[in-house]
Amino acid sequence: MAAAAWLCGLLSLLALAAAAAAAEGGWEPLIRMPTEKGGDAAAAPAVEEDEVGTRWAVLVAGSSGYGNYRHQADVCHAYQILRKGGVKEENIVVFMYDDIAHNILNPRPGVIINHPKGENVYNGVPKDYTGDQVTTENFFAVLLGNKSAIAGGSKKVIDSKPNDHIFIYYSDHGGPGVLGMPNLPYLYAGDFIKVLKKKHASNSYSKMVIYVEACESGSIFEGLMPEDLNIYVTTASNPVENSWGTYCPGMEPSPPPEYITCLGDLYSVSWMEDSQTHNLKKETIKDQYEVVKTRTSNSNKYKEGSHVMEYGDKTFKDEKLFLYQGFDLANANIANMLLWPGPKGAVNQRDADLLFMWKRYEQLNGESVETLRALIEIKETVQHRKHLDSSIDFIGRLIFGFEKGPSMLEAVRTSGQPLVDDWDCLKRMVRIFESQCGSLTQYGMKHMRAFANICNSGISEMKMRESSISACSSYSSASWSAMAQGHSA
Ligand SMILES: *[C@@H]1O[C@H](CO)[C@@H](O)[C@H](O)[C@H]1NC(C)=O
Repeated sequence: MAAAAWLCGLLSLLALAAAAAAAEGGWEPLIRMPTEKGGDAAAAPAVEEDEVGTRWAVLVAGSSGYGNYRHQADVCHAYQILRKGGVKEENIVVFMYDDIAHNILNPRPGVIINHPKGENVYNGVPKDYTGDQVTTENFFAVLLGNKSAIAGGSKKVIDSKPNDHIFIYYSDHGGPGVLGMPNLPYLYAGDFIKVLKKKHASNSYSKMVIYVEACESGSIFEGLMPEDLNIYVTTASNPVENSWGTYCPGMEPSPPPEYITCLGDLYSVSWMEDSQTHNLKKETIKDQYEVVKTRTSNSNKYKEGSHVMEYGDKTFKDEKLFLYQGFDLANANIANMLLWPGPKGAVNQRDADLLFMWKRYEQLNGESVETLRALIEIKETVQHRKHLDSSIDFIGRLIFGFEKGPSMLEAVRTSGQPLVDDWDCLKRMVRIFESQCGSLTQYGMKHMRAFANICNSGISEMKMRESSISACSSYSSASWSAMAQGHSA
């Protein structure tokens, strides 16, 4: 997990960049107005609002709980970048559970950071949709600008016009074909693509850029995302791999010692730290994709890293990022330069939760009731994970035979094909499984491909039910039951 201590904080990096530029006979490390000598003509404040239309953004943190600190930290950070770029608060819709800043485990009450030396990114973040309002339904309604379909929250929606630009950023756990939500059900790719098509049909934007961080996030778009919707997408990972948390305890750079949770995610901090250190009137969508791809892949080693993917309409990648993320005068004079010279530690999304639980247990370090409770939580979580893995394996063997079971469940379709043909079938199979075997949980999302393959093979619901009963009839853990936890489909 350890890696070279190469990133010593954004501030010192900025100072370095400044020093480098000064050494080249450039500017002093001061923020200058673009009209001053040496200022960049492209940075002049003529943002031509009419030409650009309005910039809109939807930011979604799809998890809850202190162990998932990083997703909400990512989203708060993104909000600050957009605001500094001049995107108006009324045009940015934020979805976050909002249980981090004032969490009893947060060592800095009221503060959220997204970098070991980062500043507070929680300040001023609007509470548009928090707690039980963070749902797939509300997200879709916001995107479609349909106020009457929204339950609770600020009712802020993307009320966009034909000339407008929309930026969507989503950070969370995921699995093949699904993105997490703190309130069930999860977001299914088939539904998301339908909503995007509907938005396009309503002729209410010019272009849209979507960034998604989640495990297997490529599977949300692979074989599904049309190229004619004026939407460009990048994802943290391809359809068959994890994405990675970063700035985790025990890594380099590590969070301050009082933190027992990861502060960010690798792809997410890659695009955000890139945006913060570049002139977004000069940097193109493509430039950022290349930088983020290199950094997220761990400099093309893909060890503790993933393949950043692109989908949709790739014809407008030469557009400048300020159209989506705004433009911060303070960054106008920073030349394009790669500020991340080397690898860094990362932990895959699914293990980040366990890392947090262990750190919590170690931190308690005593014979208190709390320590015992923390230990029991770890044991139960690990047991439930094993139960999910083994019962799905068992079901596969019952359906496809002892030898073919595992390979049938794990089979990956050729690229360009969607995960599943019938999304409703996938949801039904998930529900049948959860009724007998308990909630999939954010960990179990990784098994979505197994359910998809069961659908793709034309297995009947009756067969699935019988197999699930056979696999799980002896299993009884009330706290994990779908009755208690809800269904994820
Ligand atoms: C908005 O949502 C409501 C409630 O779900 C629905 O009946 C209506 O058709 C939607 N309107 C549009 C324009 O999609």
